[in-house]
Amino acid sequence: MIYKRRLMLLLAAAARRAACLQQARAARCSRRLAAAAVDDAQLEAFRAAAGFQVDAPPKRKRVKRLRHHRNPLSAAATQPAELAEDWARTIFDDRTQPLTVDVGCALGGWCVESAINDASRNFLGLELRPEAVARAQQSAQSLSNCAFLQCNANVDLGRLLGDLANAGAPLERICIQFPDPHFKKKHRKRRVCTPELAATISSAVCASPVSASVYVASDVLDVAEEMRERFAACDELRLEGDYDAEGWLCASPLQVQTERERAVLAGLGSTSTADCVYRALFVPA
Ligand SMILES: C[S@@+](CC[C@H](N)C(=O)[O-])C[C@H]1O[C@@H](n2cnc3c(N)ncnc32)[C@H](O)[C@@H]1O
Repeated sequence: MIYKRRLMLLLAAAARRAACLQQARAARCSRRLAAAAVDDAQLEAFRAAAGFQVDAPPKRKRVKRLRHHRNPLSAAATQPAELAEDWARTIFDDRTQPLTVDVGCALGGWCVESAINDASRNFLGLELRPEAVARAQQSAQSLSNCAFLQCNANVDLGRLLGDLANAGAPLERICIQFPDPHFKKKHRKRRVCTPELAATISSAVCASPVSASVYVASDVLDVAEEMRERFAACDELRLEGDYDAEGWLCASPLQVQTERERAVLAGLGSTSTADCVYRALFVPA
């Protein structure tokens, strides 16, 4: 009986001791944490006093998204482009070199490559999407015979061609290569090659002081046919070059292929196009 009591007393003492030890350990732990907190605060104060930047979470770099389409008929897109009065005199180092205008140049790869290939000619790319123009301008930074303008060709082309002619820039070619097809019937009116645009281009090509031409190409038969019809309707123009049985130019007159053309010829075009490019070239009649 006495042994049993002693054993119970011993067990109670052991339990008390264990509880005390646990309490002491918890107290030591919280003291250490508190000290660490003071240290961190002191460290930050020291860093700030010494002129170190307080660590901030790294910011994610924002990359401007390149929109694939812009509605050319929207209110914003139909505002005339704002240009300096003397833009046509200053845009190229030598504005008297023969000029090619690429309507709907997207990222401008074709203009840049053509300008590098032939430094004796000037290349001007026109594009609706501002972000695409910014990228094109960046890639042409080192070139004095290549430039880009953000504009809506359906709004600005006539004025631009007039300014260039007045500045003594001899127009040699205007290209419309692989324009947006706008397949949906209700969106057809967004297509760039309107009868008005064709008439504007035709007058400029015919008024040029040098031998000039209009080149159109597309991998979408309906779009190519429409462009060919538009220019065929201009009495002062005629087709030039060798044509196949369907009335398409047999070979491209250009040295460089556009991004879209490369994709189509590599078999990556729309399924309806069978990797085919439909081309036509018009010159003054
Ligand atoms: C399918 S991309 C063709 C790009 C390039 N020509 C090629 O062959 O790779 C057509 C381009 O025309 C531009 N575009 C459409 N309508 C336009 C307009 N009214 N004025 C200027 N650019 C236009 C579009 O923003 C787009 O970048």
